[in-house]
Amino acid sequence: MKKIILSGSTVTGDLTLGNYIGAMNNWKKLQEDYNCFYFLADLHALTVQQDPKTLKERTYSFLAQYLALGLDPQKNTIFVQSHIPEHAELAWILTCLTPIGYLNRMTQFKEKSEKNVKNINAGLYTYPILMAADILLYQTDLVPVGEDQRQHLELCRDIVGFWQNRYGEGVFKMPDAHISKMGARIMSLQDPDKKMSKSDENEKNYVLVIDDPKKIEKKIKSATTDSGTEITFDAENKAGLSNLMTIYSVLSGKTISEIEALYVGKMYGHLKVDLAQIVIETLGPVREKYLELMKNHDYLDEVMKSGADRARVRASATLKSVYDATGLVARR
Ligand code: TYM
Repeated sequence: MKKIILSGSTVTGDLTLGNYIGAMNNWKKLQEDYNCFYFLADLHALTVQQDPKTLKERTYSFLAQYLALGLDPQKNTIFVQSHIPEHAELAWILTCLTPIGYLNRMTQFKEKSEKNVKNINAGLYTYPILMAADILLYQTDLVPVGEDQRQHLELCRDIVGFWQNRYGEGVFKMPDAHISKMGARIMSLQDPDKKMSKSDENEKNYVLVIDDPKKIEKKIKSATTDSGTEITFDAENKAGLSNLMTIYSVLSGKTISEIEALYVGKMYGHLKVDLAQIVIETLGPVREKYLELMKNHDYLDEVMKSGADRARVRASATLKSVYDATGLVARR
């Protein structure tokens, strides 16, 4: 029996190079050896105000981006979160088990509520519980994510503990985070002390997976670097350059020392020109495939439907055990 992998992305903005390097690039590798569930977190997107028409269109767009990035809908179960009502249902049950003290510690809640002062809704606060429900419904072994999700994964493991204390073992599997050593936190291009984020207001801070080559080149060439000249990796003192070297390393397969050796005596500008080319070579075909897929909503609907049919079987089996354990009467 193959181990179960599950991961997803919140349907806001567009996928960035940070999402690709920290998450989807690994999802793609894992699809060969694991039973993978990859979903579009549209319920999570509702924690910030969404224009209904844009949310709908973006859900198709994210699905097309997943497929264009190389996720095979035959090998993986790819689905939309809201199509499986068990997510919201289990989230409520887990909400009743989670002490608010644990939610108060979540750094992403603090950051997001600072950004959304006019809309600090309860969903923004309980968001990590919905994430735990996403993971636990599928008896997930491993959750491939970037560094920013580590704390949410730890909370998910705590929630399994709260459940076991109250109802015993056997209903949920304890999941592990799968976080790469390299590229788990890609930084903003203009402000390398901050993570690259798809909800950033300044588009110069990120490269999108579907940016055209000209934009990619411009953004990489204008990335902030220090005033030094030597191309060496030093995340503390040369944060911008080191971020570019990390992207270079993950996309080219070269180690950091190989990159340092390659650029002895060269200037930061040389590295930027080459890196822009590497990013364009990686993302160019993705963009073309994406544009093609977006012309075919019927196909995207089919992928969503077959993914949801498969996901529902597994999710509903778990929820049935949850009903049994908690004393809720099973639906007839
Ligand atoms: P989201 O949509 O913010 O990000 C999707 C994935 O991309 C990773 N990531 C990054 N990795 C490296 N560098 C960056 N700058 C960077 N920015 C984002 C994230 O760590 C993530 O793996 N809450 C999640 C979606 C979610 C989920 C889940 C994930 C909902 N339920 C259950 C796993 C399991 C989120 O908003 O990710």
